[in-house]
Formats: sequence, structure tokens, C-alpha cells
Amino acid sequence: MALDLATLPAAAASYASREPQEILALALEAYAPDIGISFSGAEDVVLIDMAAAIGRPFSVFSLDTGRLHPETYQFIEKVRARYGITIETMFPRPESVQALVREKGLFSFYADGHKECCGIRKVEPLMRALAPLRAWVTGQRKDQSPGTRADVPVLQVDSTFGTPDRPLVKVNPLSFWTSRQVWSYISEHDVPYNSLHDRGFISIGCEPCTRPVNPGQHERAGRWWWEEETKKECGLHVGPDSR
Ligand code: ADX
Ligand code: SF4
Repeated sequence: MALDLATLPAAAASYASREPQEILALALEAYAPDIGISFSGAEDVVLIDMAAAIGRPFSVFSLDTGRLHPETYQFIEKVRARYGITIETMFPRPESVQALVREKGLFSFYADGHKECCGIRKVEPLMRALAPLRAWVTGQRKDQSPGTRADVPVLQVDSTFGTPDRPLVKVNPLSFWTSRQVWSYISEHDVPYNSLHDRGFISIGCEPCTRPVNPGQHERAGRWWWEEETKKECGLHVGPDSR
């Protein structure tokens, strides 16, 4: 079934109460092979497990900023082996990273914020990953940041990375799941998870920009503020309408 862009909001509303597997199956049916799961190396691994169970071909990409935790690299490799999948790892352009590090060192974001580093290490590689696709799938959830992610439809037209000439659809099958539901799924289906979660990390991103959280703290407390800001700007996490 093709998904009509004009009726996407209606489809999103009618699928809001469906299971993530149904949303994912709908998206794979509509867009495969021009659809990619954006895997961060965190609990969004459930999307890969669900896609594998659906049985349709699917592709996965991951943005290797060069600054991920060692545990995340090990975990991505574990997922690749467990599911027998190709993970298209997107690297930043060497000349851009090299120029940034030469001019400002390895920790420029402590001095002048996230924008330049995230732009080079995340946003540009994401744009390259999305260029050939008609749709992408994220593990974004409403409960991750009630303030800024209030509106995370399960299907949306991505006006951040798509254009009228090359429209792009963003699929957020886990939007309405809570963290508890995600972790129940991981345990019930024996899904591998990033060992950083056992060390108090709830939110997992670049090593210099995430930290463990104390019990009772919201998971976004584990993000340094500039990363949250970047999420808003780069559209990785926040729906285009809420930019
Ligand atoms: S969280 O669960 O760890 O807090 P986060 O806010 O970083 O999630 O990311 C939400 C979604 O953005 C992920 O589920 C994933 O789809 C996408 N994403 C984030 N970082 C990356 C990355 N390095 N590579 C690929 N996708 C990513
Ligand atoms: Fe750079 Fe931090 Fe952004 Fe990672 S999260 S790309 S280290 S500023």
C-alpha cells in the first residue's frame, strides 16, 4: 500500500494506537527498499528485532561520529552479528573533521557549543544517509523528553531533510511506547542491549556529551544541554513542526 503524503497525518492518527510492529510493517510495505532504520546503538535495537521478525527486507544505518563509547561500538557489532545484517555506518567527511580538530582541538564543543561539531559529525552524514531514501525509521519516543518531544507522530512528512521535490517520510514506531514497554520487549525477546545501560546510562550518545543519570532523574539529564539543542536543530529527534 502506498502512503499518500497528503493523507499521512490521518494515517498517523489512525496508527497512533497500533503496535510498533504494525507501524513498522506498514512503512516497510510502503517504502522498502527505499527505507532505512536509523540505529543509534541504544535501545532502538528493538526496531531491528521487530523488522527481522516481520520478515521483509530492511536496511539499517548508524552515524559513527567518531566519539561513541567503546561499549557502543561493541554493541553495534553484536547486533550486526546477531541479526546477520549489514549496518551502513556513516562516517563524517575526513577533511571536515580534520580541519575542525586542527583549528579547535578535540573538545571544541565545551568552548563554543555543539553546532559545529554535531554539524560535521552527525548532520552532514545523516543527510548523506537519507539522500537515497523515501523514508527513515527512528526510535524516537514521546516519553524521552515530554517538553520538547510532545508531538512525535508515528508517521510524519520530514520537512527538515525532505524537500517538495524529494519528499521524505519519518516513521517513529516507538513514539507511544514507554521506556518500560521497550525494556519489557528487550527482556521478553532476549534482545541484546548496550552494556552502558547497566552502568546507569539511560540516554546513549557521544562519549563526551552523555553521562550516567542517578536513580529518579529523567533520562535527558544524561545529555549535555548542547546535544539536546542540536537535536532540535538537526531534526534527528524533534519533529519538524516543533522546531
Ligand atoms: S535515546 O534513546 O538514546 O535517547 P536519541 O535521542 O539519541 O535516543 O535518538 C533518537 C533516535 O535518533 C534514535 O532512536 C535513532 O533512530 C536516531 N539516532 C540518534 N543517534 C543516532 C546515531 N548515532 N546513528 C543513527 N541514528 C541515531
Ligand atoms: Fe560532537 Fe558532542 Fe555533537 Fe557528538 S554530541 S557530534 S561529540 S558535539
